[in-house]
Amino acid sequence: MSLVITIDGPAASGKSSVSREVAAHLGWSWVSTGAFYRGLAYFAKAKGIALESEPDLVEACKSDSWKVHLSPEKTLVFCDGKDVTDSIYSDAVGTIASQVSQFPLVRKELLQAQRNCAYGVNLIAEGRDCGTVVFPDADLKFYITASGKNRAKRRAMEEGKPVEEVQKSQSVRDQQDSQRESAPLQIPESAYVVDTSDMDLQQVVREVEKAVNDKLKL
Ligand code: DC
Repeated sequence: MSLVITIDGPAASGKSSVSREVAAHLGWSWVSTGAFYRGLAYFAKAKGIALESEPDLVEACKSDSWKVHLSPEKTLVFCDGKDVTDSIYSDAVGTIASQVSQFPLVRKELLQAQRNCAYGVNLIAEGRDCGTVVFPDADLKFYITASGKNRAKRRAMEEGKPVEEVQKSQSVRDQQDSQRESAPLQIPESAYVVDTSDMDLQQVVREVEKAVNDKLKL
């Protein structure tokens, strides 16, 4: 039986960086489940699909023209056979991903593919609802957060944008992601909560790994 660790949290809380490092140390796979919503957002935008039409978006979810692939570095997205990973992790695609992820039938359509990522491997899954909906029986759950200002500063540095601009779009996404009716962002029951506002990546990785060793005795 494969083991699953979930890491949920708001935009730019560092979930991906932490997942990548911890997975590399453990020799596990990892998935950024946001890539499913980002991939859909990219595909829908590229094909001119109405972003407010739930039935059209559900059809888009079923299309073979876009795919998610796991890799140690990043969760990759291919569209029409082309690697579009570099385009999907922008703030602009994140905003559309947050919009399309509001629809319950879209979430339902993408759920099984996310669960399949754990098939035959030990997995770290990060996102918004990994510990609550995707893997409710996960072996260990984390919720990683940081102040809005700190998260915006980190993402602004990565994207070379003004902090205020990034903070504004992130707070819209945070609100959408945590107030939607279907699978909102919330702290999973029994999750280990890490506030990374005053921590650097290596400190967070050490804290997560300590909890993993204590709980799973790996
Ligand atoms: O984690 P991220 O920034 O790549 O996610 C992009 C958007 O996708 C996020 O704003 C909401 C949505 N998402 C979701 O609804 N559920 C998840 N498990 C992961 C992401």
